[in-house]
Formats: sequence, structure tokens, C-alpha cells
Amino acid sequence: MVQELAETQTRPRLEAKFRKPTLNDGAALWRMAKDSQVLDLNSSYSYLLWCRDFAETSVVATIDDEPAGFVTGYVRPDEPGTLMVWQVAVNSAFRGQKLAATMLDELAARLDSDFVETTITDDNAASMRLFSSFAERRNVPLERDPLFTRSMYPDGHDTEFLFRIGPLN
Ligand SMILES: CC(C)(COP(=O)(O)OP(=O)(O)OC[C@H]1O[C@@H](n2cnc3c(N)ncnc32)[C@H](O)[C@@H]1OP(=O)(O)O)[C@@H](O)C(=O)NCCC(=O)NCCS
Repeated sequence: MVQELAETQTRPRLEAKFRKPTLNDGAALWRMAKDSQVLDLNSSYSYLLWCRDFAETSVVATIDDEPAGFVTGYVRPDEPGTLMVWQVAVNSAFRGQKLAATMLDELAARLDSDFVETTITDDNAASMRLFSSFAERRNVPLERDPLFTRSMYPDGHDTEFLFRIGPLN
């Protein structure tokens, strides 16, 4: 198993470390989401809540002990083998160096997930590439279907397409 994972994982060029978030990371996660100017910025409260209650299914990347990126996710209550990735962000200073890819690899390996899901809007090429590449490294199917369409939103939010990757095991 360890050898299989080593073959599918990518490694960042940076001296990054990966760990579960703690309450102390909540503010940094909110700031990174805000600074991304792409992610839906949720309340600062929600990031603290996530760090408390969903640490097991989330990752923080640190460089020199400072948060440089994060993945927040949860295991779907009605489908325990499926990791739903909620948000991914990497500090702009550290992008393009496989930090996001490695965080996803770490999380999927930690949870031994059968499927990984996320939703992506059509204008987010970086995110599409991140998840397509995750599927390609494992040579597993990726399905893409509209999940939350524009008419469902009260505020004209773009359609979020569900990317479902797997089975991984
Ligand atoms: C998306 C994001 C997390 C990627 O982080 P990153 O650490 O730079 O990504 P990685 O270096 O791990 O690259 C992973 C893959 O995505 C591709 N990629 C990264 N940025 C890209 C971009 N701007 N456009 C197209 N592809 C991109 C990489 O080439 C790589 O593909 P490969 O494996 O085929 O070589 C980062 O750009 C970000 O924080 N963006 C703002 C927030 C956001 O859009 N989050 C995703 C929605 S939840």
C-alpha cells in the first residue's frame, strides 16, 4: 500500500509539512480564502468551526511553520467512503509547486477514500486541472455533472459542477 501511494503521489519542491488543522489555524484559513479572491468567502466563524469539527478530513500545509495552503473537506454522512472536498487554497507566493496536489494526496491517503468529490465552476481552470490531474495520476474515472445550477441559488451564483473521482481502491 505504501509503495502504491508513493507511485501516485507528487512531491512539492518546497520544504512543506502537512498536518491536520487546529483551532489556531482558523484565522489563517479565512485569510487565505479571502486573499484567493476566487473562493466563496464564508464567515470567519465557519473556518474556526471547521478546524474544530472537521480537522480529521482537512489538511494544512505549512512552510517554515506558517500556513501556506489548506484543503477543507468532510466525509459524506450518507456515503462514508466518499471524501467531499469543500475548499482548496494555496497562498499565491507558493502556487505552481504541487502544494495543492500533495495536500489532496495526503488527505485521500489518510482517509483511504473510495471516491473524492468536489464542485467547480466553469471558470476555474486551476481547480479543474488540480482534480483532473489527481484522477489521471491514479488512472481512475472522473465524472462531471451539474450539481447546483444557477436557478437553485438566490444570488445568481454560477453553476457548480460535481467532479466525482474513483473508485480509488
Ligand atoms: C487552485 C490552487 C489551489 C492550485 O494550487 P497549486 O499548489 O498552485 O496547484 P499545484 O501546483 O498542486 O498544481 C496542481 C495541478 O493544477 C495545475 N494548475 C495549477 N494552477 C493552475 C492554473 N492557474 N491554471 C491551470 N492549471 C493550473 C498544475 O499545472 C497541476 O497540473 P498537473 O498535475 O497536470 O501538472 C491555487 O491556484 C489557488 O489557491 N487558487 C485560488 C483558490 C481556488 O481556486 N481554489 C480551488 C477551488 S476549491
